[in-house]
Amino acid sequence: QNHPFGIIETYRDRLPLDGIDQIVTLGEGATPLVPAPRLGAELDATVWIKVEGVNPTGSFKDRGMTMAMTKALADGSKAVVCASTGNTSASASAYASRAGMTPVVLLPQGKIAAGKLAQAVVHGGRIIQVLGNFDDCLRIARELAENFPVSLVNSINPYRIEGQKTAAFEIVDVLGDAPDIHALPVGNAGNITAYWKGYREYAADGLSSHTPRMFGFQAAGAAPLVQGHDVDDPETVATAIRIGRPASGNLAVAARDESGGLIEAVTDEQILDAQAFLAAQEGIFVEPASAAAVAGLLKLKSEGRLDPNQRIVITVTGNGLKDIDTALSRTTLSTEAVEASTHQVAALLDFDS
Ligand code: F0G
Repeated sequence: QNHPFGIIETYRDRLPLDGIDQIVTLGEGATPLVPAPRLGAELDATVWIKVEGVNPTGSFKDRGMTMAMTKALADGSKAVVCASTGNTSASASAYASRAGMTPVVLLPQGKIAAGKLAQAVVHGGRIIQVLGNFDDCLRIARELAENFPVSLVNSINPYRIEGQKTAAFEIVDVLGDAPDIHALPVGNAGNITAYWKGYREYAADGLSSHTPRMFGFQAAGAAPLVQGHDVDDPETVATAIRIGRPASGNLAVAARDESGGLIEAVTDEQILDAQAFLAAQEGIFVEPASAAAVAGLLKLKSEGRLDPNQRIVITVTGNGLKDIDTALSRTTLSTEAVEASTHQVAALLDFDS
C-alpha cells in the first residue's frame, strides 16, 4: 500500500503508542476539507468544511476509537464500555468487533437516531437502553469501568482525545497554516478539547504560525457551558449533543479562553435551517448536531459580531444519513408520480415547449 492507512500510521510520531504494534484501524481520517463558497459569501469569509461524516462509521469518533481500541487491545481488554448519544456507540461497536473485543454500549432510551442504533446493532454490541439521559449513562459507564474488567472508551479516555487531535493536524497540513477561526459543535466537550490540543502542538513545533480562535456551539436546550452550570434535563432535536453535564466542560472553557474564542448557543430552528442550507447550497448532508457551528456562525454574522475576511474552518461531525427521520420530517420534501413514459415526465418538467 502506497499511502498510510488510518491516522495512527499517518501521525504515529505524534501519538503515545510506544511499543504497541497491533493497530486497530478501519482507515479513518484523511477526510475532505471542502471549500464552501456560498456559505463564505453569507459570512463574508473564506470557509472550508471538514467533513468528518466520511469516516468509516460516519463520524469523527473513529479518530479517537482507533486509538482507544488499540490501547485497550494492548492492555489485554476483552470488553469495552461506553455511554453514547449514538455516534460513539456506532464507532465503538465497529472498532471493538474489528479488534475481537465485546462492545457494551449504554444509550439514553428512545433518544438515539435510528441509523446510529442500527450501526451498534449490526456490529454486534451489547446494547443497553437506559431509562435516563446521556449523563446518567456516562455515570454508569464510568462506575462499570472502575469496578469490573471492562475498558472505558468515552472521550474522558485520553487516547480518544489523542486520536481526535489529528483532525487539526490534517487541516494545517492542507491549508499550510492554521485558520483564523475553528468552529465546531460541543456536547460532551471532548472534540473541542482535542482540536485545541492538536493546534497547540503544531504551533509549538513551528508547523503553524498561530493557533485559531475556537468557536464552540451548543444547542440552546442543552447549553451548560453557555449557562455556566449543569443542565438537568437537556433537550434538543440534535440528539448527538443532548448533554447537560459535559465531562470535559472545564477543558472546553479553557480552550475557549486560551484561544480568545467563544461558546454560544443556537436554537433547534437555527440548527435545522443550517442543516438545510448546507445540503441545498453546498452539497453536504450532515446530521443536525453537525450543523450547530454553521448555525452559530450565521447567527454571529447576523448580529454583526463576525469580523470580515476571516479564514474559517467548520467541522461537520457526522453524516446526515444517520438521522434521516429528522431531515425528512421537516423539509417540504415532495415527490411526484407519473406514468412510465418519457413524454409524460418531460411534460411534468415543462420540457416540451
Ligand atoms: N457532533 C456529533 C455528531 C456528535 O455525535 C457529538 C458527540 C458531538 C458533535 C459533540 O462532540 O461530545 O466531543 O463535544 N457525540 C457523543 C456520542 C456524545 O456519544 O456519540 P463532543
